[in-house]
Amino acid sequence: MATPTPEEVASFYDAVGGEAVFHRIVARFYEEVARDEVLRPLYPEEDLGPAEERLRLFLMQYWGGPHTYSERRGHPRLRMRHAPFAIGPIERDAWLRCMRTAVDEAGLSEEHRRQLWGYLEMAANSLMNSWT
Ligand code: HEM
Repeated sequence: MATPTPEEVASFYDAVGGEAVFHRIVARFYEEVARDEVLRPLYPEEDLGPAEERLRLFLMQYWGGPHTYSERRGHPRLRMRHAPFAIGPIERDAWLRCMRTAVDEAGLSEEHRRQLWGYLEMAANSLMNSWT
């Protein structure tokens, strides 16, 4: 099941442990990005800290936490915001590989891990914009 129900989203953020858990997952993800030969060159800024914060705030908001992401960045429009980066199967797979490590190490229950992973796979597929 890739798309969680509204009830699942509403409870997820608190159920997994709130901001601390999203912090841990996204920090771990960016540790992997920093040493990934496919992904690292895509990130325009030398400092990955601001990108880490944007992804963390987005995921917190999506899963029922505070709406700080939209207060700062407006509507997510993720397809538009990814348009400058060529995202084909290689980039998608690299992104999911880094995220898989982060999610697997987060200590979530099997049900929460499955829910989060289903969403991330679906979202990564939906952000592909290049097939070469
Ligand atoms: C931003 C790459 C998938 C959420 C970015 C940026 C890059 C990137 C290079 C710019 C960094 C920055 O914020 O300065 C990719 C690649 C993906 C991918 C290669 C592979 C499919 C995803 C997915 C999500 C996501 C699946 C959400 C579940 C975001 C968010 C931002 C962002 C929230 C910041 C948007 C903003 O400017 O507010 N991504 N991304 N990305 N990405 Fe991705």
